[in-house]
Amino acid sequence: MRLSVIGCGYLGAVHAASMAELGHEVVGVDVDAAKIAALSAGRAPFFEPELDGILARAIESGRLTFSTDVAAVRGASVHFIAVGTPQRRGENAADVSYVDAAIESLIPHLSAGDLVVGKSTVPVGTAQRLATRLDDAGTGALLAWNPEFLREGFAVEDTIHPDRLVYGLPDDAADAATAKARLDEVYAAALAADTPLVVGDHATAELVKVAANAFLATKISFINAMADIAEVTGADVTTLADAIGFDQRIGRRFLNAGIGFGGGCLPKDIRAFSARAEELGRGESLRFLLEVDAINMRRRERMVEMVVEALGGNVYKKKVAVLGLAFKPDSDDVRDSPALDVAVRLNGLGAHVIATDPAAIPNSLRLQPQLGFATDTNDALHGADVVVLVTEWKEYRELDPVAAGALVREKVIIDGRNILDPTSWRDAGWNYRGMGRR
Ligand code: UGA
Repeated sequence: MRLSVIGCGYLGAVHAASMAELGHEVVGVDVDAAKIAALSAGRAPFFEPELDGILARAIESGRLTFSTDVAAVRGASVHFIAVGTPQRRGENAADVSYVDAAIESLIPHLSAGDLVVGKSTVPVGTAQRLATRLDDAGTGALLAWNPEFLREGFAVEDTIHPDRLVYGLPDDAADAATAKARLDEVYAAALAADTPLVVGDHATAELVKVAANAFLATKISFINAMADIAEVTGADVTTLADAIGFDQRIGRRFLNAGIGFGGGCLPKDIRAFSARAEELGRGESLRFLLEVDAINMRRRERMVEMVVEALGGNVYKKKVAVLGLAFKPDSDDVRDSPALDVAVRLNGLGAHVIATDPAAIPNSLRLQPQLGFATDTNDALHGADVVVLVTEWKEYRELDPVAAGALVREKVIIDGRNILDPTSWRDAGWNYRGMGRR
């Protein structure tokens, strides 16, 4: 099939490359010329395992092209909208102006019978509004909503082998059948592999996406609230998570307590969702999400308090080695990163922060140039008064406590992701502290 993808950020670039990998002919469009130049040269503009490989392959095959000119979508019959919906400045609600702009730019190039497919995370009701806009403009195009559930770090795998597909189809039965047939063709490979398919209307598909992220965020804040209680009672939150996680109704995944969630999705999505509920007159139904957000933000404060406590009440001029800057491992993304936030807060208290990360230093340096950075973990550890682990990269998980102990000034480590083995660190003479851990 010939497909276009409007918006070549995280979602769009991965979707375009993955669809080309599956054999479709794809054109990716973005207003950012630098991004398009990098992608055209087969380079991902962000760190994502596997993406460079499939980009290069797809470009070489001639099936994948990129352009800054939206007219390049002509000839494609399915057009994916994959632009960002960031948090509005000073508000909790989502900014859908990029989605609106994408639709407006697309309208002059649509042909009757084309299918426009929304992938961006939007406030419920947006799809219906956009479908009306396509009708009013006389495009003869249909609109479907098809949310994406990819995780950074596993983006290619999640796109090519999704755990489910969700279609939000038009209300008219004939239009719905046409749109479904078109989407089935796009996702023929996944469907042939028995990927579960859930079909609903526009509003349900929009809600599925934000409900999933709200649930995940709630799960993380739940375990972090348990960590708070564990801390004052001498209980151990990791053991607690293991024990409740054996109950299949609960499940162990996303029950890792620590400094909490960040990134470009979970924080802004729960805020936008609760803002949308307010608009719909059902604010009270999602007010708990504001508490989920508040619990999450308190984790960062707690981490800073723990560092201050570990340094005897004052971090001023103390050397703090911060291991990790990305919001999660295998990513260079520092959007709303708890790790970067902790580094900034400690720096603000006068600590001499030396932060390191395998991938996220360039992005952190751009946003927070006042921090000290070291590309080598050993350089970061050298002479540290305290070590703060805030992103669970494999190389930090596998740190040797004896070798690390020879580099630091004081053997004090605070594990903000609860991933180290306390016994081996204590046996090597470290004062180890996890979050909500004995
Ligand atoms: C999230 C969802 O997991 C995806 O399904 C969704 O498609 C995506 O948002 C999106 O909306 O685009 P992602 O932001 O890549 O994916 O990251 P997650 O793996 O969900 O992690 C989010 C944050 O939660 C990270 O900061 C991570 O460190 C934290 N986390 C995760 C915990 O603190 N504890 C856990 O147990 C799990």
